[in-house]
Amino acid sequence: SYNGLNLVPQMGWDNWNAFGCDVNESLLLNTAQKMADYGLRDLGYNYIVLDDCWSIGRNSSGYLVENHVKFPSGMKEVADRIHGLGFKFGMYSSAGIMTCGRYPGSLGFEQKDADLWASWGVDYLKYDNCFNQGQSGTPKLSFDRYNVMSQALNETGRPIVYAMCNWGNDDPYDWAYGIANSGRMSGDIYDSFNRPDSRCPCTEAVGCPWPGFHCSVMNILNKMPAIQSRTMSGYFNDMDMLEVGNGGQSDSEYVVHFSMWAMMSSPLLIGTNIPTLSPANLAIYSNPAIIALNQDPSAGAAIRKWRYFVDPDENGEGEISLWTRTLDNGDTVMALLNAANSTMMMNATMNDIFLDQRTAGAYQEPEELRQTWDVYDLWANRMSEAEAGSLINGTSTVSPNSTTRYNATATS
Ligand code: DGJ
Repeated sequence: SYNGLNLVPQMGWDNWNAFGCDVNESLLLNTAQKMADYGLRDLGYNYIVLDDCWSIGRNSSGYLVENHVKFPSGMKEVADRIHGLGFKFGMYSSAGIMTCGRYPGSLGFEQKDADLWASWGVDYLKYDNCFNQGQSGTPKLSFDRYNVMSQALNETGRPIVYAMCNWGNDDPYDWAYGIANSGRMSGDIYDSFNRPDSRCPCTEAVGCPWPGFHCSVMNILNKMPAIQSRTMSGYFNDMDMLEVGNGGQSDSEYVVHFSMWAMMSSPLLIGTNIPTLSPANLAIYSNPAIIALNQDPSAGAAIRKWRYFVDPDENGEGEISLWTRTLDNGDTVMALLNAANSTMMMNATMNDIFLDQRTAGAYQEPEELRQTWDVYDLWANRMSEAEAGSLINGTSTVSPNSTTRYNATATS
């Protein structure tokens, strides 16, 4: 990691998916309180990130000013209270003259803004890409512009995680790991598993930059194999904020969404209204085995071993695929993904699972093939809906050892 931060993917909550520009201090503080009550903070979701639309302009000295109707206590006080609840505080700006929501951006004001955020106690910056004045289009233009803020954050002396949000433009996989802790690799997610949407031509080859912001879970996932090797400790490919809980997908689709974001070491930022979370969806966010997979020190992204179109259309609907990933302790995780509309019989042979780049070229039988493996289902033993329900209605509280209660279950 270029700044020693974010050795494993960041986790937390961001208001954008569920609330857009409708931000205010009670939203942030109530969310933080509920996340603590539900055990989510102790499971690792420890950043509260305020997205776009929080400021009103700059003062005569050039410093950003928070909107006092939305944030009557002032941002410093909000940060203090978020810290008091045991969370870290994330802030948002754009590497342009305006944010995407047309509030003041930080281009040309990088050091002033970084200093102000540091004085507020900000721990994290999400840095967007709107209104960049043509300073994009080549990797060098994008690097130079995002690097100014990276240096400004370093200058403050405060540890601040730097989450670049340039939607994968100008191949950040080649240049961003030296200046940032994560980088968005697609246009904006929307709450769809794989619904056809021509506004997001996201494929392996083509990005889907703002404002082509309708990228489904499968659009984004299928862009990952091309950049899989560019995920590393300290720089994560950010597949965008989670939609679990927002109502556009079935619970089993949300299980796939959450599992695959964990498999790919994507940041896990909850993007829903926490107080209205259903027991089923709280149980998804609370699966400690999947969280441990995401937070594994190996910090790598899963490899797609095979993919078949069983009922193809241009959006990838009707595909099945096998993904595998080796963890720090030598365990191997596999995901058999059924994105078709019906039940599928899928086989993963030992060759499928264990052959990879290591054996490309001259065939060499991997020694894993001759080993005996215990198999665990990481979803079999998740928190029950009843228990999630009692957390939500306050009749039970999470015990300190909650992260170890729902262990993976041996299936054979
Ligand atoms: C575009 C980003 O990709 C989104 O995540 C969000 O931050 C919006 N801008 C805010 O305007």
